[in-house]
Amino acid sequence: MTEQTHEYKVDALIAEDIDAYLAKHQHKTMLRFITCGSVDDGKSTLIGRLLYDSKMIFEDQLATLSKDSKAVGTQGQEIDFALLVDGLAAEREQGITIDVAYRFFATDKRKFIVADTPGHEQYTRNMVTGASTADLAVILIDARQGVLTQTRRHSYIVNLLGIPNVVLAVNKMDLVGYSQERYDEIVADYRAFAESIGIKEFTAIPISGLRGDNIVERSTGMDWYYGPTLMAHLEEVPLTDRSARERPFRMPVQWVNRPNLDFRGFSGTVSSGMVRPGDAVRVVPSGKTSTVKSIVTYDGDLDSAIAGQAVTITFADEIDCSRGSVIAAADMPPEVADQFETTLIWMDEAEMLPGRPYILQLGTQSVTATITEPKFEVNVNTAEHLASRTLKLNAIGVCNISTDRPLVFESYDDDRTMGGFILIDRMTNATVAAGLIHFALRRSQNIHWQAVDIDRDAHAAQKGQKPRVVWFTGLSGSGKSTIANLVEKKLHSMGRHSFLLDGDNVRHGLNRDLGFTDADRVENIRRVGEVARLMTDAGLIVLTAFISPFQSERRMVRDLMAEGEFVEVFVDTPLDVAESRDVKGLYKKARAGQLKNFTGIDSPYEAPESAEIVVNTNEMSAEAAAEMIVDYLLRD
Ligand code: ADX
Repeated sequence: MTEQTHEYKVDALIAEDIDAYLAKHQHKTMLRFITCGSVDDGKSTLIGRLLYDSKMIFEDQLATLSKDSKAVGTQGQEIDFALLVDGLAAEREQGITIDVAYRFFATDKRKFIVADTPGHEQYTRNMVTGASTADLAVILIDARQGVLTQTRRHSYIVNLLGIPNVVLAVNKMDLVGYSQERYDEIVADYRAFAESIGIKEFTAIPISGLRGDNIVERSTGMDWYYGPTLMAHLEEVPLTDRSARERPFRMPVQWVNRPNLDFRGFSGTVSSGMVRPGDAVRVVPSGKTSTVKSIVTYDGDLDSAIAGQAVTITFADEIDCSRGSVIAAADMPPEVADQFETTLIWMDEAEMLPGRPYILQLGTQSVTATITEPKFEVNVNTAEHLASRTLKLNAIGVCNISTDRPLVFESYDDDRTMGGFILIDRMTNATVAAGLIHFALRRSQNIHWQAVDIDRDAHAAQKGQKPRVVWFTGLSGSGKSTIANLVEKKLHSMGRHSFLLDGDNVRHGLNRDLGFTDADRVENIRRVGEVARLMTDAGLIVLTAFISPFQSERRMVRDLMAEGEFVEVFVDTPLDVAESRDVKGLYKKARAGQLKNFTGIDSPYEAPESAEIVVNTNEMSAEAAAEMIVDYLLRD
């Protein structure tokens, strides 16, 4: 093999050359595929083999490769193909692939983009990233291991994400003596599972990535197999998912292109259908209509643009259109709603918290979303529906979602681009879930805001005060209630209209059903936030005294209020001080293990980073603190 390397003609492998490379192969169809398997299934070796045998490797890369292979003491074979695709040194050390890497290659018949997706459980996220645009998935199985939990999970996600073609590559056939019996057994096993989750068809191929059996060349060791090699199958599988072009026109607006006052264009990538100058279009969600004046690109104006093309569109009229809007065929616009049924694939170490606000990104749209408890979670091994109150890392479940603003969407079944979204944690910025929209909940279309004549300004004006929420946060026993109570007494004596919502009291009534798990605390604060907000609508100065341990929820309540109405008061009493006071004897119980999830002991407290007021109870009496807070409130 090695002596032939100098003959290998390579067009491109690396990112900088991709444009030129793709241009050269423009006339060929493109197949996007992903490979999924467990850590040791031989994914990287397989991809390396595909690239190598299709002669897509630079000579100097080969040189390094043979050196590296020796360095790691690969036994027997001349070249360790895994080294070719395992880009990061760290991965090599750990023996795992940890990021999605896209590889480009081409044969005489077709060009390919393969997303190399990681195999170990934590990185379901990357698999989802690679999977959402794929035409085909290669599910790798180690012939010695057979169908594993990972195989089932990956297959479930592949099917969920609507990848139209599935290949079951039974790898390492050389290690089971090229046994037809073993192969048949695995295929039968997989078929039973595949059918149970709704995968109707798949193509099974016995291979050895390491030896090159049935990858590009037919194996000589398996004369019982009559099907195509993997490469032949990849070259010939019909591309069924080309319907994007036949669907109605949609283009999510990425940015408004306004270099000078004479030009105003809307740039983005056409996600489905086709557009021509003269077409009637509608901008959603605003609903405004216009006509396409021109389709502009760097290489001049176009007569038409189709799904996948990045263009700038100008309109005949000046209508409002901004980033996040979708330009669509006027007579067939996408739907707009703010409540949905969705499937979520949870991808964060921290479990999902129903009621917590997350950022939802769908294409160029970004809104705040809250999730309900799962209707059910799916057992990916059996496709059974399980009752569940939350979703943990890698769990898949069906949940309702509501957003603070309407989203332009399509059901994922109709359009993978406009029906797929991600959820991001507002504090850590981590992507915590991938989601697919099933449909809008009808209730979201049928509940409207009722306009009232006596509005919040009228209520506030009558009381002659500016409504506020004074949000006390701090450990149990920090002094929140004591100070809040003093503040209210002072406000009351000054003729102000106020109301104090206190954790211990609200938990006897409205929130009697809630305990002290993270999820229950989130819901506690969500409800209290909504109540406080209603009370400000009534014109009141609302004081709240809740531990409210999480930044996310305090932020959520802040966002519910008008600018300047939310005053966060951090009652900063160190744990040892609160514990030494132990007014209710709860710290003692918690230390003795008789009380679980106690804040500061075995449940976290996230201190505010930018509270309007910080009260250090070591330095200041409750009376002085109350004085200071009242001064702040009456300043304007
Ligand atoms: S919060 O975390 O959800 O904001 P909240 O302020 O409503 O808590 O309730 C806290 C009060 O409940 C404490 O002051 C204490 O009296 C009582 N309590 C009972 N169990 C716990 C617990 N596990 N953790 C914290 N407080 C508890």
